[in-house]
Amino acid sequence: MIKTEVVEVRSDNIDMDIVRKAGTLLREGKLVVFPTETVYGLGANGLDEQAVKRIFEAKGRPSDNPLILHISSTGQMDRLVTRVPERAVKLMERFWPGPMTLVLEKSPLVPGAVTAGLDTVAIRMPDHPVAKAVIEHAGVPVAAPSANLSGKPSPTSARHVVEDLMGRVDMIIDSGDVSIGVESTVVDLTSERVTVLRPGGVTLEQLREVLGEVDLDPGLINGENSAIPKAPGMKYTHYSPEADVIIVDGRLEDVVDRIKSMAGSLEDSGKRVGILATDQTKDLYARGLVISAGDRNAPGTIAARLFGLLREFDKKGVDVILAEAIEERDVGLAVMNRLLKSAGYNVIRV
Ligand code: TXA
Ligand code: MG
Repeated sequence: MIKTEVVEVRSDNIDMDIVRKAGTLLREGKLVVFPTETVYGLGANGLDEQAVKRIFEAKGRPSDNPLILHISSTGQMDRLVTRVPERAVKLMERFWPGPMTLVLEKSPLVPGAVTAGLDTVAIRMPDHPVAKAVIEHAGVPVAAPSANLSGKPSPTSARHVVEDLMGRVDMIIDSGDVSIGVESTVVDLTSERVTVLRPGGVTLEQLREVLGEVDLDPGLINGENSAIPKAPGMKYTHYSPEADVIIVDGRLEDVVDRIKSMAGSLEDSGKRVGILATDQTKDLYARGLVISAGDRNAPGTIAARLFGLLREFDKKGVDVILAEAIEERDVGLAVMNRLLKSAGYNVIRV
């Protein structure tokens, strides 16, 4: 156990004393949790092998799952990668700072602990005033996975971080709820074809606007784990609440009918049932603990709430979560990717 200092920093009126302290802690090899616009990150000095190893310990993360280096200016890129290709420049100009991570060939400066021994490195410049200030004051690239215990849903509020990491990190900076709620889009630029390894806050549609053709990693398309995903982290159990998650997919009326009948029979057999509905459907259910994830025509509203709701259902002690599928367009692709993982790909098609 280590002593964890929890501090509040407002995004619109940043306490620079705390930011300076966080920067110093990071330089000294300590662990600092900070907000980003996607999810909270568990940061350490990305050039300090020992500090990076402490991230894996704190999260209980398998060491073969590489980390993202966070930077606050594009000037920091040159030391971290062998080359910044033209298409990277295009994406950086359009989407940085923002919810996009680029995978490029790493320079010798980047420790193997960050990249899990790969010869590539993932880099992102977040768009959150507190993240930017902390990274800038650290003066080093900050390695940071999502600040949850390995396997749990990513933290979208400091409350979630406290639940998971109290006593395991040196500082937690609380800046309230994040805005996006799903992690960054991981884009692989190390082969001929540009490939999305993890869908996220920057959508496939947006990437295609800039680069033309962009592929989805085959491991993401069928959702059946038949191909080994290129982002090593994608192969692990993820985003799992304690409850079993079952997704129901199909025509909306049929989905609602099926969830109604499942909720009824599960409750009759003594199970506590949560229903992850949408604004359009939440009033149609008579049984189960019904919570709307958001508006199905505005998937960003669902992205912002998804991880928090998975944790909330656990707190309410439900045994089974029945979740409506949403359309895989826009940030809905990232939402369904996370939901499928939390369900262990358990989908009922109606
Ligand atoms: O939004 C985000 O990306 C958040 C915030 C904190 O920035 N971070 C985050 O980190 O989600 P993490 O560690 O939970 O997820 C990083 C993902 C994993 O799927 C990992 O396998 C992949 O990026 N990744 C990291 N380095 C890679 C590399 N060199 N090649 C391929 N995938 C890589
Ligand atoms: Mg994570």
